[in-house]
Amino acid sequence: MKAIQLRHPATLDTLALVDLPDAPAPGPGEITVRLRASSLNYHDYAVVTGGIPAAENRIPMSDGAGEVTAVGDGVTDFAVGDAVVSLFFPNWIAGQRRGGGFDSVPGDGIDGYARESVTRAASAFTRAPRGFSHAEAATLTCAGLTAWRALVAEGHLKAGDTVLVQGTGGVSIFALQIAKAMGATVVATSSSDEKLERLKALGADHLVNYRTTEKWGKAVLGLTGGVGVDHVVEIGGSGTLDQSMIAARSGGHIAMIGVLSGYKSPVTTSMLMQKELLVQGITVGSRRHQLDFIAAVEATGIRPVLDRSFALADLAGAFRHQESGAHFGKIIVDI
Ligand SMILES: NC(=O)c1ccc[n+]([C@@H]2O[C@H](COP(=O)([O-])OP(=O)(O)OC[C@H]3O[C@@H](n4cnc5c(N)ncnc54)[C@H](OP(=O)(O)O)[C@@H]3O)[C@@H](O)[C@H]2O)c1
Repeated sequence: MKAIQLRHPATLDTLALVDLPDAPAPGPGEITVRLRASSLNYHDYAVVTGGIPAAENRIPMSDGAGEVTAVGDGVTDFAVGDAVVSLFFPNWIAGQRRGGGFDSVPGDGIDGYARESVTRAASAFTRAPRGFSHAEAATLTCAGLTAWRALVAEGHLKAGDTVLVQGTGGVSIFALQIAKAMGATVVATSSSDEKLERLKALGADHLVNYRTTEKWGKAVLGLTGGVGVDHVVEIGGSGTLDQSMIAARSGGHIAMIGVLSGYKSPVTTSMLMQKELLVQGITVGSRRHQLDFIAAVEATGIRPVLDRSFALADLAGAFRHQESGAHFGKIIVDI
């Protein structure tokens, strides 16, 4: 089978297209999947460019979707021909996650899905939503599930709430779609007026350009009549948290998800206290969360926003497109 491996030093130029043996026959409790699509996340970008150190020859990509081609003894959840999608944390079935590491994460601690086939424990996959293409399903593992968990599983989003989403990457567009599907009002930001118009077409109620409006937190507060938003899906990180706190209502929920504006910086802790904010770190989700999310996707009719597709052999080109920031929604790898 064809696969992509990273070489040291990890850069987009050192990503190698290789021939590897096909996935072995499944053992008890395992399935073999013919992978058909993956999708890019910022986390994958950090792995392939050396920002997150990974082993030499690691196969990147946390997200994988395809069809089951063989089923091992004792597998009852899946049959040959079923459409499936991978888990970000293959060993996190439900409840609280044990440990904080990424040792079991495909494309990071273990080999990922930039390859044509894999044999792995059946529990490392869930069914894909009915009627989804493999490309659409491949967007759910990391970006989609994170947005779902931030807003619904942890944020307890309800109709009538107000949600702030930042930028037009994978997580944020899913958050916008989930919020609108569940009856919330959405304030969306972007660095591009053109992208803001596309967010409006997806249902965003209020728009703020965070590049031209430096104090965008105050602008968001104004758009909510001075009350503030109930939920913030915080993908900027340390450089955006202060503005997010200004935008939030008293007692509001800030899901700390991303690091796009930095990993570490001073935070106005007094505002946390004064506004009684709930700031919660979120790291993707469990198999249980993914099954709930897939049921919700089917019930609401949410369809992922796909940007461009690249062939597996051009994975580096896909990451260069992500690096340019020109994308809107999910970048796909066809396998
Ligand atoms: N904790 C978790 O479980 C988890 C899961 C998934 C992702 N993440 C993190 O979430 C972040 C987003 O991931 P992604 O895969 O959605 O990325 P992505 O698809 O590459 O999104 C990048 C977009 O984010 C926007 N952006 C960049 N810097 C920004 C800033 N300072 N303020 C507001 N928006 C900004 C830009 O939108 P515009 O072009 O519109 O300005 C950019 O196009 C990353 O830091 C990633 O590591 C965390």
